[in-house]
Amino acid sequence: MSVWAVIVAAGRGERLGLDRPKAFAGLHGRPLLAESLERLEASDWVDSIVVAAPPDWEEPVILLAEELGCGKVVAVVSGGESRAASVRAGLAEVPEDAAVTLVHDAARPVLPEEVIERLMTALNEGWDGAVPGLPVPDTVKRVDGDRVVETVDRENLIGAQTPQAFVSSTLRDAAASGADATDCAALVEAHGGRIKVVPGDRRLLKVTDPVDLELAETWL
Ligand code: C5P
Repeated sequence: MSVWAVIVAAGRGERLGLDRPKAFAGLHGRPLLAESLERLEASDWVDSIVVAAPPDWEEPVILLAEELGCGKVVAVVSGGESRAASVRAGLAEVPEDAAVTLVHDAARPVLPEEVIERLMTALNEGWDGAVPGLPVPDTVKRVDGDRVVETVDRENLIGAQTPQAFVSSTLRDAAASGADATDCAALVEAHGGRIKVVPGDRRLLKVTDPVDLELAETWL
């Protein structure tokens, strides 16, 4: 059974206020992308890796993968205008006969191997896909500008993280619709796919602003 990982790394990361894309923000003196690349390379579950790079940054991504000795990286493609477009660009390099595709945000550098194991176990149980999720700790409010409209019951809410794992053919069909979504599970859900939530991990924090970078560094 072949397992492919697509790392989506093409975001601009404007909130970090840097002169380069977020995937190349410094984390302990290395590009942010290095951390997830190395962890997927070392994972016992993953056979091959595709990276959707920021446009015009394909070459630095190839060099980084070589420097890190990431022999599982078989393709580096140019990402798209949206996350979903970057996923589609990455999936184009995943062969038809791949059994499972994991999609991971480069913006979540600290990727524990146990999470991948939980996702793969869910797929072995027969689910179409699996996502790591964490309960939402804050009270959640719907707003209109700065006015609170309502308080949403958080009991049945989770925050969905990545990596997310899917039966490859299911993700491919769902992504082909060309729809936009902020995660891959939403594409598969819209196609009637059954997605299991497995326990996520706080360290899978998505780096959005400079404070997140500081926090992620404490977990390395
Ligand atoms: O911007 P957002 O928080 O959705 O980014 C999540 C992940 O998707 C990041 O790793 C980012 O690099 C990636 N992304 C991408 N192509 C885009 C936008 C985001 O690969 N056009």
